[in-house]
Amino acid sequence: MVTHPTAIISNRAKIGKNVYIGPYSFIQDDVVIEDNCKIFGFCNLYGCKIGRNTKIGPFVEIQKNVIIGENCKIQSHSFICEGVKIGKGVFIGHGVIFINDKYPRAVNEFGKMITNEWNLLETIVEDFASIGSGSIILPVRIGKYSLIGAGSIVTKNIPNHALAYGIPAEIKGVRCKCNNIIYDVKNSKIKCEKCGYEIIR
Ligand SMILES: CC(C)(COP(=O)(O)OP(=O)(O)OC[C@H]1O[C@@H](n2cnc3c(N)ncnc32)[C@H](O)[C@@H]1OP(=O)(O)O)[C@@H](O)C(=O)NCCC(=O)NCCS
Ligand SMILES: [Zn+2]
Repeated sequence: MVTHPTAIISNRAKIGKNVYIGPYSFIQDDVVIEDNCKIFGFCNLYGCKIGRNTKIGPFVEIQKNVIIGENCKIQSHSFICEGVKIGKGVFIGHGVIFINDKYPRAVNEFGKMITNEWNLLETIVEDFASIGSGSIILPVRIGKYSLIGAGSIVTKNIPNHALAYGIPAEIKGVRCKCNNIIYDVKNSKIKCEKCGYEIIR
C-alpha cells in the first residue's frame, strides 16, 4: 500500500494489496478497499466497499454501505450516496450526483433537526454501464451496458443496452457491448453492424 502522508485512514478500514491512497483523503469507518485500487487525493470514503482495480478520482465522496464492483472508473467530483450499488466495469463521469432522498428537509414540522426520519431510496447501476459527466441520478435502476449522456437527469429506470440522455433522460437508442451506438428505438432485437452481437432489450 502507498499512502500519502496527509491521508487519514481509520484503523477499522481493510485495505488490500497494492492500493494507492492520495493526499488529504479520509478513509473512514469500516471501509473495504480491495487489491490494486487507486484512490486519488481529497476523497472522502466512509463505510463503503470498493472492488479490486477500481479507480476513484479526486474530490469524490462515497457514503456508507455503498458497494462498488471491480474495474470501475469513478471520475473526479462525483458524489455517491448511501443506497447506491454499482456493478463491475462501470464508468461514472465527472461530477455525477446520486440522490437517495426524494423529499429532503432539514427540520421536521416541530422545528427539530431531522436525523433518521427519512426514507432511504436505492439506486442500482448494473455491470458495464456508463454515466456521462454532470448527470443527476434519482433512485432508479440503470441497466447493463447502458450509456447515459452528459448532463442528463435520470428519473426513470433505464433498460439494459439503452442510450439515454436529456432532461428528463429519454431513451434514444441502444449501445452495444462494443460501445457502438445505434439510433433505433423500435426493434426489440438489433444486430450490431460493428461486432455482430445481437442486442436484445
Ligand atoms: C449522448 C452521447 C453518447 C451522444 O453521442 P452521439 O451519438 O455521437 O450524438 P451526437 O453528438 O451525434 O448528437 C446527436 C443529437 O443528440 C444531442 N445530444 C448529444 N449529447 C447530448 C446530451 N448529453 N444531452 C442532450 N442532448 C445531447 C445533440 O445535440 C444532437 O441533437 P440534434 O440531433 O438535435 O442535432 C454523447 O453526446 C454524450 O453525452 N456522451 C457522454 C460523454 C461523457 O460524459 N463522458 C465523460 C468523461 S469525459
Ligand atoms: Zn457491437
